Amino acid sequence: MEFALPLLEWLTFGLRWLHVVVAIAWIGSSFYFIALDASLKDGEAWQVHGGGFYRMKKYLVAPPELPEHLTWFKWESYSTWITGFFLLATLYYGSASLFLIDPATDLLTPWQAIGVSLAGLAIGWFLYDSICTSDIGRSDRRLIVVLFVLLVLAAYFYTHVFSGRGAFMQIGATIATWMSANVFLVIIPNQKKAVAMLLKGETPPAYLGKRSKQRSLHNNYLTLPVVFLMLSNHNPLAFATQFNWVIIALLLIAGAAIRHFFNEMHAGRKEPWWCWAVAAACGVAIVALSLAGAPRDDAQAASLPPTRTQLVETVQTRCAMCHAAQPVWPGLAHAPRGVRLDSEAEIVRHLSEVRAQAGLSRAMPPGNLTEMTAAERALLRAVP
Ligand code: HEC
Repeated sequence: MEFALPLLEWLTFGLRWLHVVVAIAWIGSSFYFIALDASLKDGEAWQVHGGGFYRMKKYLVAPPELPEHLTWFKWESYSTWITGFFLLATLYYGSASLFLIDPATDLLTPWQAIGVSLAGLAIGWFLYDSICTSDIGRSDRRLIVVLFVLLVLAAYFYTHVFSGRGAFMQIGATIATWMSANVFLVIIPNQKKAVAMLLKGETPPAYLGKRSKQRSLHNNYLTLPVVFLMLSNHNPLAFATQFNWVIIALLLIAGAAIRHFFNEMHAGRKEPWWCWAVAAACGVAIVALSLAGAPRDDAQAASLPPTRTQLVETVQTRCAMCHAAQPVWPGLAHAPRGVRLDSEAEIVRHLSEVRAQAGLSRAMPPGNLTEMTAAERALLRAVP
């Protein structure tokens, strides 16, 4: 047993490392191809990189003869999803009572929450794919509005059945599943069909390419929001405040707007500077909402800054069973994230993090396991 916890920790760290590396490769190659495609002049682009010159040429249909070796870009995407899924399982399903459920609502047991999460990923893809292939999918604009509403409804639902942190991860995983499944179930199979027909000397029907293009457009616009969602577990002001589902909605708009700016710029069209205004407005609204949605307790909110003794006592009673050199909480081998809160000096050292995690938001204690009161949170907020 002595080895089990450190091994698990190394395993998740290794997975996280791999996940980030393959995600960089996926996002990098897809951004590269989008920019390349947009910059082609008469189907050609000259590029210089790493001391060499490259002459990129695009064949709109296919070359008269396909070369024997054709590079496919798909494992970047598949491996990102696979490593992400294992991370979700080890971190969020493995510690569902800490990260996935919200014990305050008493709605789901850890196993039920895991079931809802898994079913949610499958149903999410089914809904997305059905909407794309339905009549709604005939117009890109209409489709994007419907998908946006779907994601916001999902965000509302998950933030009300899971903890804020669990909900953000679930929405991130839902979008990431759409993106990888788009590659695995639509884009690559369509491309394979087209190649097979071309080899037989037939012309592939236009709808094959059209469908792939629509899905890759979605992947393009969803990239920035999904990265934000995956990183958000370090920023409790995003996920652990009251209006967290509105924050997700604004984030989807901001991320898409920023992507749109770069898409237009790379295509050599006039830069749509309004995109930055939209993104900035969403950013300001997100920050304002996260502050407005901080836990409140009116009677205490205006209290004076706590005395040192009050502060140390509160943090030690509510946090130190986990955040100590030798935590007493079962399943923890050492202080989580190296944050120790078991002495006055350590508490003072981590004051601003303590305030962000437990005063300005409800991120800590996870699932409010040690039953911190609103008055105690007000006390931490009042720390200068
Ligand atoms: C039940 C155990 C437990 C309790 C009680 C607890 N924490 Fe934590 N804390 C954790 C775990 C687990 C993590 C690591 C989370 C992760 O892996 O992202 C953590 C992480 C943190 C971090 C680092 C966050 C980061 O992303 O770097 C801070 C700061 C923190 N806790 C503060 C507090 C404060 C303040 C309290 C008391 C109000 C508290 N914790 C109570 C388990 C606990």
